[in-house]
Amino acid sequence: MTAPILVTGGSGQLATALEATARERGLPVRRVGRPEFDFDRAATIDAAFAAAAPALVVNAAAYTAVDAAEGDAEGAMRANRDGPARLAELCAAAGIPLIHVSTDYVFDGTKGAPYVETDTPAPTGVYGASKLAGEQAVLAACPHSVVLRTSWVYAPAGKNFLRTMLNAGAKNPRLRVVADQRGSPTAAADLADAILLIAHRLGQGAPADGFGLFHACGGGWTTWHGFAEAIFEEAARHGAPVPAVEPIATAEWPTPARRPADSRLDCGKLARVFGIRLPPWRDSLARTIDAIFSPSTPGR
Ligand SMILES: NC(=O)c1ccc[n+]([C@@H]2O[C@H](COP(=O)([O-])OP(=O)(O)OC[C@H]3O[C@@H](n4cnc5c(N)ncnc54)[C@H](OP(=O)(O)O)[C@@H]3O)[C@@H](O)[C@H]2O)c1
Repeated sequence: MTAPILVTGGSGQLATALEATARERGLPVRRVGRPEFDFDRAATIDAAFAAAAPALVVNAAAYTAVDAAEGDAEGAMRANRDGPARLAELCAAAGIPLIHVSTDYVFDGTKGAPYVETDTPAPTGVYGASKLAGEQAVLAACPHSVVLRTSWVYAPAGKNFLRTMLNAGAKNPRLRVVADQRGSPTAAADLADAILLIAHRLGQGAPADGFGLFHACGGGWTTWHGFAEAIFEEAARHGAPVPAVEPIATAEWPTPARRPADSRLDCGKLARVFGIRLPPWRDSLARTIDAIFSPSTPGR
């Protein structure tokens, strides 16, 4: 039997999409999550790796609670730096590639233009700092690593902005949404497609410059307010209620962690090296909304 792709991240958005897409394509996949795979219990990392004997690892597990991380730096560092570092050591020792997922929140958002991979990171909070430390640890430990920074991830299920808006919109005729933070919504299914394509290419012999840091998010950009309005426009096609969405400033919606005001990512390197571009965010949003309201819609 062919060695599987080991996907960490339990029932998280990306891990779920990766397993679904891999199965659709007939690729052997083993998805692991807590408690059997827990970055807080280092022995479980080695045990899960040994049990799977994978051909490649995708690390989609992370401490993603951006605000909670402000009060739990140790937990965030264990999950976002130390655990990925151990996975990277195991991959290096086994001579297999690791695809590790990171975030736009490694940047402070002051550039005023989309960030490229060579821009200097400057995280504004604990989550971003822990993810940056994880990127660096992974790249240092495993020469065959691909680190993908993505942004504003959503899926038909899970904890995400899309679900939060649909739930809030069903209960409230008016919502207030931050309109001065820019970024690119990314459908978990699109990112899963891209990751499995990269995995395939690595399996055929990596292209020149095929390892290292890459930006990978949905095409185009918007604000959280623009994202919310688009969600309700698409959901209205299925008869969902459309609340009034009032644009507000970040200062009017204080949170424990400061977010970057403009974390748009330039994804040109992924296109040049791997020939991969994620679809325009708005098209993917329409497909995801269709999948929520008409669950028989294929592929999402
Ligand atoms: N969500 C976003 O908007 C966003 C934006 C940029 C980048 N990213 C990155 O994209 C990747 C995938 O994120 P996602 O949206 O799929 O996140 P998600 O839905 O929050 O899933 C994360 C998964 O990681 C698991 N996890 C958390 N702490 C863990 C630990 N200590 N040990 C083992 N597993 C642990 C969680 O397990 P439980 O289910 O047991 O809690 C969860 O299943 C992450 O690297 C994230 O940093 C996400």
